[in-house]
Amino acid sequence: AAFGGEIKEEDIPRWRSVFDLDRLIWAFDGELPVATAAAHTFQLTVPGGELPAAGVTFVGVLPSHRRRGILRQLMRHQLDDVRGRGEPLAILWASEAPIYGRFGYGLAARAMFMDAERSSVSFRAPSRPTGSVRLVPLEEAGGVLPDIYDRVRRETPGMFGRTEAWWSALRLADPEHERRGGGPLFCSVIDLDGSPEAYALYRLEGSWEGGIPRGKLQIREALGTTPEATREIWRFLFGVDLVERVKGWALPVDHPLQLMLADTRRLHLTVGDGLWLRLVDLPAALRARSYAEHASLVLGVDDAFCEWNTGTWRLDVAAAGAEVTRANGEPDLRLTIEDLASTYLGAFTFADLARAGRVEETTEGAIARADELFRTSRAPWCPEVF
Ligand SMILES: CC(C)(COP(=O)(O)OP(=O)(O)OC[C@H]1O[C@@H](n2cnc3c(N)ncnc32)[C@H](O)[C@@H]1OP(=O)(O)O)[C@@H](O)C(=O)NCCC(=O)NCCS
Repeated sequence: AAFGGEIKEEDIPRWRSVFDLDRLIWAFDGELPVATAAAHTFQLTVPGGELPAAGVTFVGVLPSHRRRGILRQLMRHQLDDVRGRGEPLAILWASEAPIYGRFGYGLAARAMFMDAERSSVSFRAPSRPTGSVRLVPLEEAGGVLPDIYDRVRRETPGMFGRTEAWWSALRLADPEHERRGGGPLFCSVIDLDGSPEAYALYRLEGSWEGGIPRGKLQIREALGTTPEATREIWRFLFGVDLVERVKGWALPVDHPLQLMLADTRRLHLTVGDGLWLRLVDLPAALRARSYAEHASLVLGVDDAFCEWNTGTWRLDVAAAGAEVTRANGEPDLRLTIEDLASTYLGAFTFADLARAGRVEETTEGAIARADELFRTSRAPWCPEVF
C-alpha cells in the first residue's frame, strides 16, 4: 500500500526465497502493522575488493501514518542492527532522492538511461560482427549468466553478489503481471571462441503504426566481460527487428558504448541518481578499499545520525594496506559522512565536492591529495534496483 501497488499471493514464495526474515522490521500501531524496512545481506564490490553491505529495501510507511517520524525510527533501528552485525556499509536505491541524506546516505553511483533510435545506431570499426549469438531459454540461463556476471562484478565497484535464489526469484523471473504490456523476457548470449562472454535480458513491446513497426526493446540487463563481448551484445540488441527504440535502464555512466558508436547523440542518454551508500563503520570501510597512492590524509567527519563516526580520522596508506585511526588536532579536510560516501566507490571526486561547496579544505592541497588517493579507473555501477 505504501507504494500504491500490491503483492500477489503467487509472488510470496519468490520473495520469501530471497528475504532474510530476521532482517525484516515492522512498526505497529496497536495491532496494526503500519511500516516495514528490510535488508538483504550482500557482498558489495568496492575499489580493490569486496565487503559485507546491508542492501536496504522494502521501506514503506502507510499513507495514513506518514510524517510522524516512523521512517526515522526504522532507520535508527536498522542502522544499529547493521552495525551490530559488523557490516561496514549499507546501500539502497531511493524512491525519491531527498529522503536518505538525513540518515547519512550519499549518492555513490550514478545511473544512465538510454532511449536509442535504433535505425541511427552504427558501430565504428570493426563493423563486422565477431563471435556468435544464441537465444538461451530462461530455465537454462541460470547455468550460463552467473559466471559472466561475477566476472564483471569483481571488477566493478557498486555491484553485489547474487545467490542462486536471487537469480531465479528475481533476475530471471518473468511473471506475466510484471510485463507491463511487453512480451516475455528473452535471454541472448554471445560466445567468443566457444566461451560465453556476454549476455542480455530483454523484452519486446510490439507496436505498429500504419503498417510500420514501432516496437520498443526494453533491456533488463546487458553486460560483457571484455570490450569485444560488450560490443557484440550491444550490436545484437541494436539489430533486433521490428524495433524502433531501444531502452536501457541503470547503465553505467562511463558505458563504453559512448565511444563505440558513430553517433552517440542518437542514444538519447540521461543521467540520474543510482546507488546510495552509507558508511556505517567508517574506519572498517576506509580500511577495506584500495587506494591509488601511498599517502596520508586527516579527515574531519560529521555524522549526525551515527555519532560513532563523528570525529577526526587519520588515513595512512602504505604498501601493507590502509590504516585508519582516530587523530587529534586540525584535519586536512572537513566533510559530512554523506559526502564521504559520494567519494567512496569513485562516483565523485573531492574536487567535485569542493565545486559544490560540500567540502572544506583546511590544509592547502588536501583536496588534490585526497583525489590522488581515492582515484579509481572506472565509474561505479549498480545494474539492479533491489
Ligand atoms: C518515504 C516514507 C518511507 C517516509 O516515511 P515517514 O514515516 O513519513 O517519514 P518520517 O516521518 O520518519 O520522516 C523523516 C524525515 O524524512 C522526511 N521525508 C519523509 N519522506 C520524504 C520524502 N518523500 N521526500 C523528502 N523528505 C521526506 C521528513 O520530512 C522528515 O524530515 P526531518 O527529519 O527533517 O523531520 C513514506 O512516506 C513512504 O512510505 N512513501 C512511499 C514509499 C516510499 O517511497 N518508500 C521509500 C522507498 S526507498
